[in-house]
Amino acid sequence: MTVLSIEGLSKTFDMHVLGDTEVVGLDDVSFDVHEGEFLAIVGESGSGKSSLLKCLYRTYDPTAGRVLYHDGTNEIDLASCDDRTVMALREDTVGYTSQFLDEIPRVPAVDVVARPLVEQGMATADAREQARELLDALHVPEELWEAYPATFSGGERQRVNLAQALAPKPDLLLLDEPTSALDPETRQAAIELLDSYLDDETTVIGVFHNTDVVETVADRVVALDNGQLQAVVPVAEYDGGVVS
Ligand SMILES: Nc1ncnc2c1ncn2[C@@H]1O[C@H](COP(=O)(O)OP(=O)(O)OP(=O)(O)O)[C@@H](O)[C@H]1O
Ligand SMILES: [Mg+2]
Repeated sequence: MTVLSIEGLSKTFDMHVLGDTEVVGLDDVSFDVHEGEFLAIVGESGSGKSSLLKCLYRTYDPTAGRVLYHDGTNEIDLASCDDRTVMALREDTVGYTSQFLDEIPRVPAVDVVARPLVEQGMATADAREQARELLDALHVPEELWEAYPATFSGGERQRVNLAQALAPKPDLLLLDEPTSALDPETRQAAIELLDSYLDDETTVIGVFHNTDVVETVADRVVALDNGQLQAVVPVAEYDGGVVS
């Protein structure tokens, strides 16, 4: 079943500082996403991977195109729905981790991870227990669980971010290079958690640079080049470089 139909999605940035020139982030990209699949987005730096995820999460307002989200009964255009709908979807349907770890609230790591579960109605003690299990599975040292992520290393923050996004098991999970700052062993733990924790119904769209990670986690690969769609292929046809 198709869960997302992306049709002619474009994002251009008006660069007033550059004399009103335009920078193209995404250029007329169309593809379908199947329910429950793990889709890896690949492409060179600057090819539009983050812009694509941000258009889906509506951090960016797309310049053109549609993103039809089919939730079984309704069809919502994520590219044009109003802000209230965006906020409601973010609460219980769509999860996101950004490439850069910019949001660092002054709350203990365990509560950062537990918060979305509490917002879903889980009792605080249960939510904190589940958060501890997630942090443990991601090899975050126990002495850090009650500390503020502001002082954490890049890789520790990245794992807190990932745990927070995974915790509520969103229907659609958008991950922008969620394992880029991790060493091979911790990265492996993160990949195993993605596989074991999420239900089959969760659709994941993830940006990855590491070919081994793509081959391990992905069902299909979307390759971007200069903002344009280069290919959408099953992972078996992806050789880590040029996809034709
Ligand atoms: N907020 C913005 N304002 C202006 N230009 C932007 C903005 N966001 C992205 N761009 C431009 O859009 C293009 C695509 O950027 P994007 O961040 O999507 O690339 P990426 O594939 O995620 O790269 P990387 O692998 O380095 O993270 C780049 O040329 C970038 O400079
Ligand atoms: Mg990026």
